Amino acid sequence: MDMTISRIDPAFRNDVLRCFEQENLAIPARWLYDRQGSELFEQITDLPEYYPTRTETALLSQYSDQAAEMTGTGRAIVEFGSGSSTKTPHLLRAVQPAAYVPIDISGEFLAHSSAQLQTQFPDLPIYPLEADFMRKLTLPDEVAEMPKLGFFPGSTIGNMIARTSVDLLRFMRETLGTGSQLLIGFDRIKDADVLVAAYDDSAGVTAEFSLNLLHRINREMDGDIAVDQFRHVAIWNDLYARIEIYLEALSDARFSIDGNQFEMAKGQKIHIENSHKYGLRDARLMLRAGGWSPVREWSDDRDYFSLILAEAHPFKNAP
Ligand code: TRP
Repeated sequence: MDMTISRIDPAFRNDVLRCFEQENLAIPARWLYDRQGSELFEQITDLPEYYPTRTETALLSQYSDQAAEMTGTGRAIVEFGSGSSTKTPHLLRAVQPAAYVPIDISGEFLAHSSAQLQTQFPDLPIYPLEADFMRKLTLPDEVAEMPKLGFFPGSTIGNMIARTSVDLLRFMRETLGTGSQLLIGFDRIKDADVLVAAYDDSAGVTAEFSLNLLHRINREMDGDIAVDQFRHVAIWNDLYARIEIYLEALSDARFSIDGNQFEMAKGQKIHIENSHKYGLRDARLMLRAGGWSPVREWSDDRDYFSLILAEAHPFKNAP
């Protein structure tokens, strides 16, 4: 028998158990990203149907120089949720920052990607910060006096409901300070078929990524969920302009998790992710609601994705 003591995150345990006590079943999307989940997500970013990563990376490689004309050199770049930092080199090369602060909740990931980046940019001071960027945070002392450029690619903002996005943008403004800038990615509204395919690919990688959440529950919480009795569902909710991801029970299901018994009826769904999309100017309004003034927007030929540069202007009296 395996005698390793699993170090389960108490917040994960709490979110999972609470899910089944509520009428609308939902588990926060952050729990999709354990080791297996993170690896599957990396695979998603290479899928032919998954346009966001490829489109945004192309925008960064094409327009980082233009962005640098507006940021100037010598800022401290602060990346929120840096993960593997794969999109960062284009920006670092163009903006020539005085320092780079990658922020990520996974310390392991952070150490690895910072070391990797350091070999590419040997002279760049890197100050990794292991933190939850959804809360107000204190930046390392070394960058306190430098003007900041926040970097928030990947349309991660799209995974939050509007109220939470605005809270986060306000936190970012407080963390980075007046006079700072923010370069942020937003995924645009487009043909629903294109959107649904991006979240339900023909090779089934996205389905595997979603269903890994149930495997994770089984692994870490001594669960016995019959994962093959569930399917991944991606739908476009036009009213809320978002893709919604669910795990749907294909038959009546009974299972135990951490010694607790639960039941789901056939057709019942667990909501595990939202991915909001933005019409022309929606993203700019969202930024302004969070205290950021849009300065410039870049998008690809098909308007599939937008990068917006915004500034934290001093608050002025408004009529
Ligand atoms: N941030 C990604 C996005 O919204 C996350 C993601 C991609 C995702 N595919 C998924 C989340 C499938 C859940 C299921 O584009």
